Amino acid sequence: MTQKHILSGDLLVFAGDPFQMAPEQAVQIQSDGALLIEDGIITDRGPRDSLVRTHPGARHHAHPGKLICPGFIDAHVHYPQTAMIASWGKRLIDWLNTYTFPEEMRFADPEYAAEISARYLDLSAAHGTTSMASFCTIHPASVDAFFREATKRGQRVVAGKTCMDRNAPAGLQDTAQSAYEDSKALLEKWHGRGRISYAITPRFSPTSTPEQLEAMGALWAEFPDCLMQTHLSEQLDEIEWVRELFPDARDYLDTYEHFGLLGERGLYGHAIHLDPREIDRIAEVGAALVHCPTSNTFIGSGLFDMAGLTTRGISVGLATDTGGGSSFSMLRTMAAAYEIGQLNGYVLHAAQLLWLATRGSAKALHLQDKIGALEVGMEADIAVLDLASTPAIAQRHANAEHHWDAIFPTLMMGDDRAIEEVWIGGKKQGLV
Ligand code: GUN
Ligand code: ZN
Repeated sequence: MTQKHILSGDLLVFAGDPFQMAPEQAVQIQSDGALLIEDGIITDRGPRDSLVRTHPGARHHAHPGKLICPGFIDAHVHYPQTAMIASWGKRLIDWLNTYTFPEEMRFADPEYAAEISARYLDLSAAHGTTSMASFCTIHPASVDAFFREATKRGQRVVAGKTCMDRNAPAGLQDTAQSAYEDSKALLEKWHGRGRISYAITPRFSPTSTPEQLEAMGALWAEFPDCLMQTHLSEQLDEIEWVRELFPDARDYLDTYEHFGLLGERGLYGHAIHLDPREIDRIAEVGAALVHCPTSNTFIGSGLFDMAGLTTRGISVGLATDTGGGSSFSMLRTMAAAYEIGQLNGYVLHAAQLLWLATRGSAKALHLQDKIGALEVGMEADIAVLDLASTPAIAQRHANAEHHWDAIFPTLMMGDDRAIEEVWIGGKKQGLV
């Protein structure tokens, strides 16, 4: 018989979308609640005392006064950039050429890919992140390494081989044909195996020829249940460059749309400087945008229009964009999202921030039936948050007047010290 577990504390529970209804109704805190976990799945939820009484054989993990959240879901990362995070002084294109591409070259070595996969998954789990959508490098072995390591940990991850056939060093280029063949082989090998999903991954329009974008579009048409992830309108210089490279395109989004790379399962990272036509098309097809706030400030990209885009009903996920982003922490990422909201004249509620980092990202990844909420039947990926994890946060927490006031200081000032416990696939993790 499998061991049953009960995890008790204050539960973060969703009743709706906090961008479409009052945040405090959409997101609720159930004090002294509990979850029953069996075989990796949440099989019961209720008040702590009655759940403990009903399941006397279960092992009880009690976290009184702590916040039990769905594990954080990072909707856009580059795991191969783990070792060069926080590199100084460049904007996007120079940053890619100076720091990113040389580091990504190292993934020609499968051993290095395995080492960084493990390091990245350790670091992200220590920060409460249980699932992510990651770019790999052009090397198929970088995908195998990441999926192998995630499989060992029983982790639900999305990733794909990054495709580039121009404007990158020779050692980091594939071709339209090899990108298609390698991506297809990886997809057939991994997609749907355990908790793994494959995402078709053209890096961004400047590093793909029209032929490669066309090949990626053809692959997506063959495997429409896969996600397709890429970058869109991150910096003004980049957009200008795209205009030069694709003189016939109506706008940046059109460089994808024209080749069959715009769809409901499309994930577009950054999406800061959008034209009205682009916003209309994204809303029409139901594609998802991914907000990468620490990256957008760190690389100096601009302010994502959370209010305008969510008002249009566009699905938005939240992400670190490691290592363009300056932190592995989704708490730090929520703080940056809040700050960007303030600069844009929009005050994000703590309920909206937590929703973005969990259910919002799950919806963007079309995984909302599996992860991102503490519901019966969902996979047991969980982060337990200490809301008084440092002296600075504790003294502010002591003055809190209600739940959201008690949570908000941790969203603004918290880091891995706030992560008390993490569960992945129903298994408690030993954190680094
Ligand atoms: N655009 C194309 N590649 C990248 C990348 O690796 N990071 C970021 N932030 N933007 C990109
Ligand atoms: Zn990125």
